[in-house]
Amino acid sequence: MSSSPGAGRPTLRIAMNGVTGRMGYRQHLLRSILPLRDTGLRLDDGTRVTVEPILVGRNADKLAELAAEHGVEHWTTDVEAVIADPTVAVYFDAQVTSRRMAALSAAIKAGKNVYTEKPTAETLTEAVELARLAENAGVVAGVVHDKLYLPGLVKLRRLVDEGFFGRILSMRGEFGYWVFEGDGQPAQRPSWNYRAEDGGGITVDMFCHWNYVMEGLLGPVEAVTARTVTHIPTRWDEQGREYAATADDAAYGIFEIEGGIVAQINSSWAVRVHRDELVEFQIDGTHGSAVAGLRGCVAQQRAHTPKPVWNPDLPVTERFRDQWLEVPANADLDNGFKLQWEEYLRDVVTGRPHRFGLLSAARGVQLAELGLQSSAEGKRIAVPEIVL
Ligand SMILES: NC(=O)c1ccc[n+]([C@@H]2O[C@H](COP(=O)([O-])OP(=O)(O)OC[C@H]3O[C@@H](n4cnc5c(N)ncnc54)[C@H](O)[C@@H]3O)[C@@H](O)[C@H]2O)c1
Repeated sequence: MSSSPGAGRPTLRIAMNGVTGRMGYRQHLLRSILPLRDTGLRLDDGTRVTVEPILVGRNADKLAELAAEHGVEHWTTDVEAVIADPTVAVYFDAQVTSRRMAALSAAIKAGKNVYTEKPTAETLTEAVELARLAENAGVVAGVVHDKLYLPGLVKLRRLVDEGFFGRILSMRGEFGYWVFEGDGQPAQRPSWNYRAEDGGGITVDMFCHWNYVMEGLLGPVEAVTARTVTHIPTRWDEQGREYAATADDAAYGIFEIEGGIVAQINSSWAVRVHRDELVEFQIDGTHGSAVAGLRGCVAQQRAHTPKPVWNPDLPVTERFRDQWLEVPANADLDNGFKLQWEEYLRDVVTGRPHRFGLLSAARGVQLAELGLQSSAEGKRIAVPEIVL
């Protein structure tokens, strides 16, 4: 850390690469780092550290504009210089996935602490190599596991910790929404997401999330069976040009979790939403069940469980959705990305490992890779443990 003469407190300088992108801008810069720059980062002992972003990217005009708009003093297109700068404590990467491996390994080799979007790499081999590099360099490395910090999943985790479910049997997850093809209405996601050659695909994108969600709520994933599909083979890009969608836009997965728990998660960019939230997880156990979205969570315990009888000749007699109770937050649950940034930066200041490091990230990449393999080969695949 360098020191900030004005405020008289230490300054944590963070090089942020990819801030012109959707995630880098909205969640990381706007929702996380700019608010922390304004308030300072509160440490465990109550003291504060100043947070100073440096915007990094390829397009000088866009960076200058962003910096001016948000009053950010430093920006650069020279990544090499920024990672060689000894006053920079953290290198953050939210670039397209295909550029991550080279950027992160250079930063780690320069001795920088690294924080990164997922997936950390396009292949398991590379993701493991990154984890190894970070471990050997002794830097504090972290990967975005934002879903675990969201109010809905925090509540779900609390129910698990309190033993609410009894013996947990299964989890069902439903994720997705309709992503427009881009001809009539512009697509609401970047076109590279739909090209395998550019690191796209819903399996690569979402299975790394599902891996840490399952690990974080229920336990390690032991096997995967998946069917991945490209439902929409032709799309139109940001310039309105037609292109072949070479990556999968839906993945239907079954995951076997330690202790005999079975999870099924559907992920699709070719589905219409008839749900309360864009992602929902239901956990069923012998003593209760719960359904969580990003924010909300409802639960039903055994004693309140109705006893429906299957009879297609009669209309539905009960309002099943009304039989669930809202789980309260009981705390001020902030933006999930910001909460994890704060935790990661406190780890950097104290030099302790972040709980979601690059090994955890590699397990996510592994699950995506095995999911694709399972689909290609039409078989169930056991998930081997990764040892660094
Ligand atoms: N944690 C989450 O929930 C979440 C959600 C979406 C995306 N992501 C991850 O964040 C990363 C960025 O995704 P995004 O949706 O913000 O993408 P985006 O296309 O909006 O942004 C990509 C960023 O990378 C930069 N870039 C560098 N080289 C590029 C190239 N050759 N082509 C295009 N852009 C290039 C762009 O300038 C831009 O800043 C991806 O790795 C993605 O997997 C995470």
